[in-house]
Amino acid sequence: MMKTKQFLFTVFCVFPLFAQADEGERTYKDATLPIEERVDDLLGRMTWEEKILQLNQFTLGNNDNVNNIEKEVVKVPAGIGSLIYFSENPELRNEMQRRAMEETRLGIPILFGYDVIHGFRTVYPISLAQACSWNTDLVSRACGMAAGEARRSGVEWTFSPMIDVARDGRWGRISEGYGEDPYTNAAFCVASVRGYQGDDLASDKHVAACLKHYVGYGASEAGRDYVYTEISRQTLWDTYLPPYEAGIRAGASTVMSSFNDISGVPATCNHYTLTEILKERWGMEGFVVSDWDAVEQLIPQGVAADRKQAASLAMNAGLDMDMVGHCYDRHLESLIREGAVSEEKVNEAVRRVLRLKFRLGLFEHPYTEEMPAAQRLLQPQSKDLAERLAEETIVLLKNEGQVLPLQGFQPGKNTIAVMGPLVDASGELLGNWSAHGRMEEVCPIREAMQEEFDGKATLLFHAGCPFDGEDKSGFAEALETARQADVVVLFMGEKRLWSGENCVRSTIELPAIQEDFIRQVKEVGKPLVLVLANGRPLGLHRVEPLCDAIVEMWQPGIPGGRPVSGVLSGRVNPSGKLCVTFPRTTGQIPIYYNRRQSSRPALGKYQDIPSTPLYEFGHGLSYTTYRYGEIKLSRQTVREDESLTAEIAVTNTGHLAGAETVHWFITDPYSRISRPVRELKYFEKQLIQPGETKIFRFEIHPMRDLSFVDSDGKRFLEKGTYYVQVKDKRIKLEIDE
Ligand code: GLC
Repeated sequence: MMKTKQFLFTVFCVFPLFAQADEGERTYKDATLPIEERVDDLLGRMTWEEKILQLNQFTLGNNDNVNNIEKEVVKVPAGIGSLIYFSENPELRNEMQRRAMEETRLGIPILFGYDVIHGFRTVYPISLAQACSWNTDLVSRACGMAAGEARRSGVEWTFSPMIDVARDGRWGRISEGYGEDPYTNAAFCVASVRGYQGDDLASDKHVAACLKHYVGYGASEAGRDYVYTEISRQTLWDTYLPPYEAGIRAGASTVMSSFNDISGVPATCNHYTLTEILKERWGMEGFVVSDWDAVEQLIPQGVAADRKQAASLAMNAGLDMDMVGHCYDRHLESLIREGAVSEEKVNEAVRRVLRLKFRLGLFEHPYTEEMPAAQRLLQPQSKDLAERLAEETIVLLKNEGQVLPLQGFQPGKNTIAVMGPLVDASGELLGNWSAHGRMEEVCPIREAMQEEFDGKATLLFHAGCPFDGEDKSGFAEALETARQADVVVLFMGEKRLWSGENCVRSTIELPAIQEDFIRQVKEVGKPLVLVLANGRPLGLHRVEPLCDAIVEMWQPGIPGGRPVSGVLSGRVNPSGKLCVTFPRTTGQIPIYYNRRQSSRPALGKYQDIPSTPLYEFGHGLSYTTYRYGEIKLSRQTVREDESLTAEIAVTNTGHLAGAETVHWFITDPYSRISRPVRELKYFEKQLIQPGETKIFRFEIHPMRDLSFVDSDGKRFLEKGTYYVQVKDKRIKLEIDE
């Protein structure tokens, strides 16, 4: 008597091979059928081997990711679920897709994914910079442009946006997300998802988004990468989960599990986060892919003895697709046969993968049109958008004595010394995770400055100082150049790969040689403008007093030196504001604006430095000035089911038009669970002409904007006193019975 298991296995494994469609029967290939019916029909025809292959992702093309070297899968199975696609052109992808459509029994198309983080070939500013623009519309449009370049190049799934709240600049991946605040990450997550996915996933303008890295990766201990994260359930809910909930509500198609161990249970096998929260409570319809090899990495993480156990833990926790780990393809079949993994679990995972493939229209359009690169990449409109976005990311941190903008100069009479390691290494402005961007396509600082100041001043260029190391041989000439100038502009900061994955630094201060160069240039006695290009907040406490002006340009992508040259000349009025706090020193980390309250707020200070940050979250100067009116509320007291409007008038009291962002914070001075000293709940950016007054409004819905969560995500709203705050102004609001 055949054992039950074997009987079932035969039925479910062999029978489908003969489950051919009857003549005229409407099958999964019928695009007029509802997607769920197509999924059901296809699933019913698949063997276990076919199902399991759908839950694996290998790579295709020349893998250029130094952190993720993998054993090349020499013969990629035509039935593979997904491939990370490293080529810039669609031909190789179409060749592989043709094998899937023509060499397999059911013709299930492959899903091609890639890291389109801040652009595909047109590279935009890094995400940390994009958030400093506070322009969600521009960010959404940039994601839409990147989606179009990617889709028309053979990629229909991006592993973006990265929305990990991060408060430790030693962690190189702080550059990839939208800063320290949950609301900011949520707002830009939604903007990105909408930009990537649009309203028609099947169009060649859009790609499926992937929220990453789920969850709490930004809490990596001491900023080291891939390590343990100590995250209480309370902090999980009030800090790290909100951007993901916003992204799921916005319709994000997929999620990527993170490398980190969440207080003892790694994210890649964490049933609470992957299934209870993501799928059961939030109702996510898409699927979860692991990060690179993260299923196998459950072994070094200390929870799995081998790949088979890793596969069992991950699948049972709700991890749907194994990225290059070779745990699912090698072990799921035996785990099902042994009953260690249920057939329902695997079927549900396959269902989620198939659902996205149908939504992307891959069954109807499995191939990418093979148009020339010049027609699909680096289009004028995407380059223009990159430039505009880069301009809006630039943050004017300091401008003592209005030394900026550099105006009123004459060539032959006035000279600007342009120096620093970035002057002849502008490719570093591309930033990390730059996909198919090319360093040589970044507009060089030298060229941009010459163009910007042509006919306005004489420019002298000299790198003078390396990024790091001990070689000061260029100092003497550089100091001589500084002596000949009326003002010195130093372009300093980081190389592009000093931030990003596996790019951890023990301090966030500039390398000693850069600080020494700044100090020596300052001694020449000319006005000194420091321009920074970096992928993390920097510790500037020794450097700040030496500079008359400091401009944070981040890493702008291919616009390179052009946007910041416009700021230096005054053609662009800087409007960026920090989305991440700048500590004075590494020793202050973690330091962030929405810190918890202290029992003795006036005490517990550092003995050796001020306990305030160097630059606060939201800090950013302009070439014009603004006057803020008082906050007005449409009602002082509301019931929890009522809404009210807060408004504030902002007047441009200067002579230049400026785009101003108003950040609306709330404070709940006492609650049954202690709350941050203040929390960002809304922001708005408006262009204000000189002399003009604009009204900024925040419609407050108490349950949305004033409530809090407990340690299992239950949202509660307490009656009583709250404050609505803009800058240093605040007004009381009562929530009544
Ligand atoms: C990397 C990164 C992740 C990326 C993935 C695929 O290790 O952690 O952000 O999407 O692998 O390249």
